[in-house]
Amino acid sequence: MNKNNILEQLRAATASLHDQVEQLPDMSRLMSPKVTDDDYLIALLRLRRLFWALEPTLSKHFFDLNRGDYCYLPRMKALNDDINCLSGSRPTESVEPLKLGYYQAIGAAYVVEGATMGGKVLAKRLSQTLNRSQTNGLKFFNFHRKGTRSLFISWLQQLELEAQQINWIVEGATTSFRVLLDGCKNQR
Ligand code: HEM
Repeated sequence: MNKNNILEQLRAATASLHDQVEQLPDMSRLMSPKVTDDDYLIALLRLRRLFWALEPTLSKHFFDLNRGDYCYLPRMKALNDDINCLSGSRPTESVEPLKLGYYQAIGAAYVVEGATMGGKVLAKRLSQTLNRSQTNGLKFFNFHRKGTRSLFISWLQQLELEAQQINWIVEGATTSFRVLLDGCKNQR
């Protein structure tokens, strides 16, 4: 049984994947003072691919706001709105939505909720460098304002987990990071 160290295990298992994501040219350009709308659009399209793969399974497992569990708030609309705002067209995604089991989906939720931490940093920067706001193409990176990550973390930390369940959670998280990394290979 395990009660408290699932977060530490997830961090340890995914630290190098997160480093790789931050160093992707498509992501690191967002932190540049010279970032352009085109750079921003490319990053949104990469993230759209990730949410295309994960959102259906997250919505299926974590849909009930009243159940007292973690509830996943869909983000595809925010991504699509931002892409529209930048006059980008939405491609037919080359990845199938993943069908994750419940514990793997917890790992995927760790990744997408964690992405809002990067979003917090990025929303601040892009509001300055691209002069954008929530009503002007910067909805997705402002998702951190909804506070879903801290709700997810408190829910995650009170779960009682068997070793196999922890393995599935970690597997779901690494698979999710890899969807993003694979989508950025050989692009641009
Ligand atoms: C340039 C892009 C990104 C930057 C600058 C960035 C930056 C950050 C920062 C500053 C944190 C908070 C660390 C802390 O306070 O403990 C964080 C956490 C995290 N980020 Fe990113 N991030 C980026 C992209 C992403 C993306 C695209 C994903 C997911 C696909 C992601 C997943 C995570 C996760 C899972 C955490 C949570 C770590 C934890 O608390 O366990 N990040 N990121």
